[in-house]
Amino acid sequence: MTLIETVKDLRAWRKAAGHVYFVPTMGALHEGHATLVREARKLAGTDAKVAASIFVNPLQFGPNEDFDRYPRTLETDLAMCQAAGADMVFAPSVKEVYHTDRSIQIQESSLSKVLCGASRPGHFDGVCTVVAKLFNLVQPDNAVFGKKDYQQLAIIRRLVRDLDFPVEIHGIETVREDDGLAMSSRNRYLSPAERAQAPALRAALVKAREAWLGGESESARLLDIIHQHLAQHAALGRKDYIALVDRHTLQPLPTLENDGLIALAVFFDKARLIDNIEMVR
Ligand code: PAJ
Repeated sequence: MTLIETVKDLRAWRKAAGHVYFVPTMGALHEGHATLVREARKLAGTDAKVAASIFVNPLQFGPNEDFDRYPRTLETDLAMCQAAGADMVFAPSVKEVYHTDRSIQIQESSLSKVLCGASRPGHFDGVCTVVAKLFNLVQPDNAVFGKKDYQQLAIIRRLVRDLDFPVEIHGIETVREDDGLAMSSRNRYLSPAERAQAPALRAALVKAREAWLGGESESARLLDIIHQHLAQHAALGRKDYIALVDRHTLQPLPTLENDGLIALAVFFDKARLIDNIEMVR
């Protein structure tokens, strides 16, 4: 596996690479990320190359967010990428990626205004800008993202459609701990007591899906099931949002007929956890 840290070296690697499957990350890798790389390896077969990136993107962190204390674990990240089948990891410095006098960035004006975007202004513009740059640098034919960040995945699909990136986007199911907690680099911020309550997020979402499959289609009632479950089992958590939305537009659905998405974000002191469940039959 090759480690590349500069744009110049990346350009040279790309020229010789052929078809490329790409997995962008911010590092602090866990089994969820490893699954994306393994999936990319599977899709790529033996002919195409698998590239991952490790870059903590300052543009997508708000002024009071965790950019400075975001975990940086490059050595173990590289070992994980290699074990999962990556051919190349691009791990540039901030200086290498952003010019100090940069003056152009991408703005998304619809999908990014709801759910996580409502409480993280500018976050998804930062994501779009860095993903667009990484796509221009790595020039992948395919890219793999997790459904754990469902809104991000929807926005990346829109970015690719609206700006005509020649990249096919693949969405991968959320990888979870045995007790249901979605794996996240931010789970390490949880205290033992918070960690014990965090699986309630998944349990509440599953309960709502079961109620829907059992015949309940009023969004308000489905969301109430989640509120009640969290009040009982995740008292240390403070709700950011819980919403039932269309899977593509991310706009609220008053009733749930054919399919939809329930997404939520809950603060546990230092950690803001997100999870979601696709409501499909
Ligand atoms: P990061 O949070 O490191 O996530 C990188 C990729 O891993 C994303 O596609 C995310 O959805 C996926 N992922 C994270 N946890 C997962 C889990 N438990 N199961 C499955 N997939 C999971 O998302 C970002 O970085 C950044 O915003 C990025 C796209 C790299 C742009 O900076």
